[in-house]
Amino acid sequence: MRKLTLSFILIIIGASSFCQQKQLELQTMQEIILEMKNTALVLSIEENKDVNMIYFGNKLSNPSEYKAMSKQYNQGHDYTNMYQSAFTASGTRNLLEPAISVIHSDGNQSLDLKYQAHETKQINANQKETIVKLKDQIYPFEVELHYLISIEENLIEQWSVIRHKEKNVVKLSKFASANLSLKSPQFYLRSFHGDWFQEMQPSNEKLTHGIKVLDSKLGTRTNLFQSSYFALGLNNEIEENKGTVLLGGLDYSGNFKVEFEKDPQQNLRIIAGINNYASEYFLKPNEDFITPKFSFTISFHGLGDASRNYHNWARKYRIVNGMGERYTLLNNWESTYFNFDEKKIHQLLENTKELGVDLFLLDDGWFGNKYPRNADTSALGDWEENKLKLPNGIISIVKDAKDVGVKFGIWVEPEMVSPKSELYEKHPKWVVKQPNRDEYYFRNQLILDLTNPDVQEYVYSILDNLLSKNPGLAYIKWDCNAVIYNAHSQTLNHQGNFYVEYTKGLYKVLDRFRAKYPDLPMMLCSGGGGRIDYGALPYFTEYWPSDNTDPLDRIFMQYENSLFFPAIGSANHVTTVGKQDLKFKIDVAAMGKMGFDLNLEELNQKEVNYAKSAVQEYNLIKDIVWHGDQYRLANPRELNHACIAYISKDKSQAVMFNYLTEYSQVSNTPNPIKWFGLDPNKNYQVGEIFIKELRNPIYENLILSGDFLMKIGLNPMLYNGRRSVVLQLKAIN
Ligand code: DGJ
Repeated sequence: MRKLTLSFILIIIGASSFCQQKQLELQTMQEIILEMKNTALVLSIEENKDVNMIYFGNKLSNPSEYKAMSKQYNQGHDYTNMYQSAFTASGTRNLLEPAISVIHSDGNQSLDLKYQAHETKQINANQKETIVKLKDQIYPFEVELHYLISIEENLIEQWSVIRHKEKNVVKLSKFASANLSLKSPQFYLRSFHGDWFQEMQPSNEKLTHGIKVLDSKLGTRTNLFQSSYFALGLNNEIEENKGTVLLGGLDYSGNFKVEFEKDPQQNLRIIAGINNYASEYFLKPNEDFITPKFSFTISFHGLGDASRNYHNWARKYRIVNGMGERYTLLNNWESTYFNFDEKKIHQLLENTKELGVDLFLLDDGWFGNKYPRNADTSALGDWEENKLKLPNGIISIVKDAKDVGVKFGIWVEPEMVSPKSELYEKHPKWVVKQPNRDEYYFRNQLILDLTNPDVQEYVYSILDNLLSKNPGLAYIKWDCNAVIYNAHSQTLNHQGNFYVEYTKGLYKVLDRFRAKYPDLPMMLCSGGGGRIDYGALPYFTEYWPSDNTDPLDRIFMQYENSLFFPAIGSANHVTTVGKQDLKFKIDVAAMGKMGFDLNLEELNQKEVNYAKSAVQEYNLIKDIVWHGDQYRLANPRELNHACIAYISKDKSQAVMFNYLTEYSQVSNTPNPIKWFGLDPNKNYQVGEIFIKELRNPIYENLILSGDFLMKIGLNPMLYNGRRSVVLQLKAIN
């Protein structure tokens, strides 16, 4: 018995030293090093031509030392030598979650991707793209891994291109964009779930073994329940101004899946891509399957720094006219709903002018004749002006707006169709539905089948006709209120391709639209914030965070959105919702792109005067909010107040938005709020804004140095009678 045990131990020792030997044999042949301003991602090409991701973190001063790294990790053996694969293929050696799974044209399900070549192209002074080519040894099947780095912003966009030259169709059953491998003793995930009216609710958890999945199967409006954007604390829980934090998300408006798997070596694998749910994709020979981009950035100075990476990158590359201007506006949705006519619109145009905002936005309800759009039960698809409401057409409103001296924009929901519409009667085959099952509606509507080129043509022509007939139209709000039920195209050959082709169809229409109308301001709305992602945002100038416009709820949502999306994109409207006074509402809307959605006639003269002066003051600070650096100085989920500040790039001006978020008679801000990001050597004059004829400023002639503000701080003196305070800082030297 004793002998047996001993020999068993010896066998184990033998086996483990064999494994170690095998591991040692697999020496790295070469590293592919992607270096940004402060960070580096390193891939290794192993002797057996596997490509692994061996590092993502702080950039080293001496790149030749990346090689030395693996010896410092004593993590036990990897049976496959591919736990850290840069793109895990399935059906051969893999033991962990794959990034790609295929069924070859002969029915075989194996794939083993080996290094072929790589190249790096300079895209512009700040961006480089590295392409790593992988190929199966048996089948004519290849994958390219693309890494586009933005050096200043420390941000990587990663995607894959999948193609083959097999005799027949290959079925892709999984097709990720990215497969990361991260090393850290612990991983803390913050993800964002929600629903209509309650978007971007954070949840925090420490990742354990098994797979944590963030996904959507909704087809459209895919962020309704879950966003693909997440924050990950490495080593420690996520903190705003210190620690290592990775931010990432799939830049895609269709179904997504982001998987977090702790591997047997305690490392974290992240596999992100289009959701393969009900989507076995038929890929023809010589066709490219191009996955969406997975964007991610890492900071060693906390969440705030990582967010600023995203904001800077988005303004430069990912939002239409991100470095430019925006229109402030008056919208009529919450003040009229479907109930308006030309007279009412004229009054709203006059209100727009009086308020001093740039544009009037006419919302839902202006179209449909056989089935007028007087409720959300009809007319989507019938995009002609309703003759009773607008007898003289949009063209006369555009003219009226011009005469009044404001701009005019309009709401559309081009992807949708009402069962009660002429469009549905004419084109029943254009609708997404199961032919042999009952229809099932979301907000009383169905989706048009954008996989069908005829439908793509139709959707494009709706917008093109609207703008060609009314060249003075200055703004579009593009809404999308339904998810996809009964996913099925009546014209597509392979239903497994449906979800992927739908989103491709949507982007095709948007591409064509933007090619003709590159600069037109357009709001991305999806029954609230159901589609806020960097797949859609390159076509839009701004997004609508939520139909919930209660300013208290909005503070939280705008705060959470700001982790990933810059303030210039956040359409924040002042409405009648919420018990707070007008000042509080305006203060909340002003920390983004301000708008109004209320009936001026319902305000008293003092309120109207106040709103007008606030618009004028906003015009003086909006540049700092839209183009400056954002610092979240107080988190309302940790404290009884929120504070978000914006500092101009040259650090000469700043604005600090402060809100008491706790309802209590005794709440206040006993401590000063510490600043970050100011110039310690500058002196700043502190003044309160948005208080005209309301109250006296809290600070008069106060001058404090950046050093003091960052070491001691500034107290906005919030209490129950002063629930919101906006302070402006101006450098005087
Ligand atoms: C949902 C949007 O989020 C609202 O702002 C409004 O445009 C309605 N749709 C109109 O139906």
